Amino acid sequence: MTDRYAVIGNPIEQSKSPLIHTAFAQVTGQDIEYTKVLSPLGAFAQTVDAFRAAGGRGMNVTAPFKLDAFAYATDLAPSAQMAGAVNAMKFEGGKVYAENFDGVGLVRDVVHNLGCPLQGRRVLILGAGGATRGALLPMLAQGPAEVVIVNRTVAKAQELAALARKHQSASVPVRGVGYADLGAQSFDVVFNATSASLSAELPPLSASAFAPGCLAYELAYGKGLTPFLKLAQQAGVTRLADGVGMLAEQAAEAFEWWRGVRPDTAAVIDKLTVPLV
Ligand code: ATR
Repeated sequence: MTDRYAVIGNPIEQSKSPLIHTAFAQVTGQDIEYTKVLSPLGAFAQTVDAFRAAGGRGMNVTAPFKLDAFAYATDLAPSAQMAGAVNAMKFEGGKVYAENFDGVGLVRDVVHNLGCPLQGRRVLILGAGGATRGALLPMLAQGPAEVVIVNRTVAKAQELAALARKHQSASVPVRGVGYADLGAQSFDVVFNATSASLSAELPPLSASAFAPGCLAYELAYGKGLTPFLKLAQQAGVTRLADGVGMLAEQAAEAFEWWRGVRPDTAAVIDKLTVPLV
């Protein structure tokens, strides 16, 4: 029997998840159907209940429901707890298992697909919102030399750094600072995890933050050369990436969690890549 999965959000038209999971199912020979579910605002639980009652096995969760899914879950994985948000659910009997694969997907893209180990590197993350929260623990597990979180609202960066220090299993130095505090420090990997790119804005980052040979990574996907990537390019950075690989890798994590088979992501990344120009 065909097993049913879906991505739930509002709006949902833009979601690439059905395309990705359908491609994964084809290459792995899994008999699944993966659709889009538009949930009315304020009716997340009822919409998911109906999907489960109709035999649904699992869901990806996108904006604005990642916190609703957090509240709906019966069993939260540590990744979801740290992120404070859920992006994948698995339904088994009365249980709702919940995960957040964004961070692990990001790290896998950087280390595996882009061939940029984080171990021993100086890492800078711009932003202290949900995207950074999700990325921190998987990043720290790689053993970077240090992680600096820089944010407009400095207190948020400091709080998140303190939380990460408390929860990490390694003992990587983690600091939360403001943009003005960065001075002339430079970093080997710089992630833009702010929502600035969504409104074509530029975080107030100095070009000196990019060390020679640095990787500049924009977590947003499909926006071409964002102001952040442009700044990096103008600073002489040649290794530029956006979140297409992260998108594919978090999907692959969910697919493996649901189906027990890990799909290769290369073809999907190739298909979804928007040139950085
Ligand atoms: P998300 O879940 O996508 O991370 P969020 O939780 O609303 O979204 O967080 C957005 C992050 O982007 C915040 O760190 C925000 O900075 P503040 O905490 O100071 O508001 C950051 N951000 C948004 N627009 C920005 C801009 N133009 N320049 C710098 N940082 C920006």
